[in-house]
Amino acid sequence: MSELDRERREMAAKLQRPGARPDPSLRITRRTFIHKSCLLGAATVAETFAWWPLLNTIDVAFAAEEPFKFAWISDTHLYPRSLNTRFVDKTIRAAKEVQAMNPPADFLIFGGDIAQLGKIEELELGAELLKEVKARQVFIPGEHDWYLDMGKKWGQLFGEPHWTFDHKGVRFIGLDTVSRAPDYWTVKNMSPEERMGHMATLDGSVAGPWAGVGRDQLDWLSKTLSTWDKSRPVVIFSHNPLYEYYPPWNFWVRDWREVNDVLKPYANVTNIHGHVHQVLYNEIGTMRSIGMLATSWPWPYAPTGLPPLTVQMNRADPFDQFGGCGDGHGLVAAGGLVDKIYNLWDRNPMTVRASYLASNGTKDRPAAVRLPSF
Ligand SMILES: [Fe+2]
Ligand SMILES: [Fe+2]
Repeated sequence: MSELDRERREMAAKLQRPGARPDPSLRITRRTFIHKSCLLGAATVAETFAWWPLLNTIDVAFAAEEPFKFAWISDTHLYPRSLNTRFVDKTIRAAKEVQAMNPPADFLIFGGDIAQLGKIEELELGAELLKEVKARQVFIPGEHDWYLDMGKKWGQLFGEPHWTFDHKGVRFIGLDTVSRAPDYWTVKNMSPEERMGHMATLDGSVAGPWAGVGRDQLDWLSKTLSTWDKSRPVVIFSHNPLYEYYPPWNFWVRDWREVNDVLKPYANVTNIHGHVHQVLYNEIGTMRSIGMLATSWPWPYAPTGLPPLTVQMNRADPFDQFGGCGDGHGLVAAGGLVDKIYNLWDRNPMTVRASYLASNGTKDRPAAVRLPSF
């Protein structure tokens, strides 16, 4: 066992006690971190991409036919350009970076909340800004996109809210986790703007547990996966995390247990999600779950604490519009090592790496472990 593996296991043993939280004493200096990352990365095929700055990409090599990467941009929360150019500028930055990738991303996934208040002007602005990216684009909706006109304009611009395709040995699935909210507006005679306004807050005290996959989509997911070998990789994109992180802010889907039941037979599932606007990592069953950064702003941590496998971020500098925002990329490399790499836009760039041993689908699998981080 290498020194790095031994250190990871020691840290896992320390950190994964019930209720354990990230400990500031475990942070490392940038220098030490870079040293560890180079040690780790040298052994992976995907290291070629590991220091690519300011990109939000996912490299998939584990059990895929050939290594490749795709780009992720999410949660741009665009206002009309006449009201606010701050988020516009950030979206332009992200799109330019994705377009500049070399080697290029095979496709771009947009993870929802392209608009702030679901307005036609906001949605069209998002579509226009993303035209900078010439690669294939696929979209899933966020709640901010949907509840002004119940997804009408979003559908016209971006198509079906759930979909699947196979790419180089990986089955990709896009889920709609936002459109099945219980009706909280009719009995209160809310206008579309009022309905949307309750969705545009973090606190879901009026909109309630709106995030869900729904029975119909669960049946579709089950059917879609039934034609896929259970050991082959599946990557599922969703706006909300597919587990229970913090329900009052809809940092979950209310039917996550049913989702997990459908996914349980599949040994190699990765869920990549937006909505939380913060670095998150969790494992549930055989599914790995990765929360990506937003380009717009960072949400607070849930008051109940982070998932036990998540490395805590320092919080944003309120005087820096890029504070706590940014992107990164994940690696799923041969041998079962799963990495995700975040690049914070206010660190010029500072690349932070957290590494995990991938689930192998058995109950006695090695515990996921982490390197200390930012
Ligand atoms: Fe968002
Ligand atoms: Fe959202």
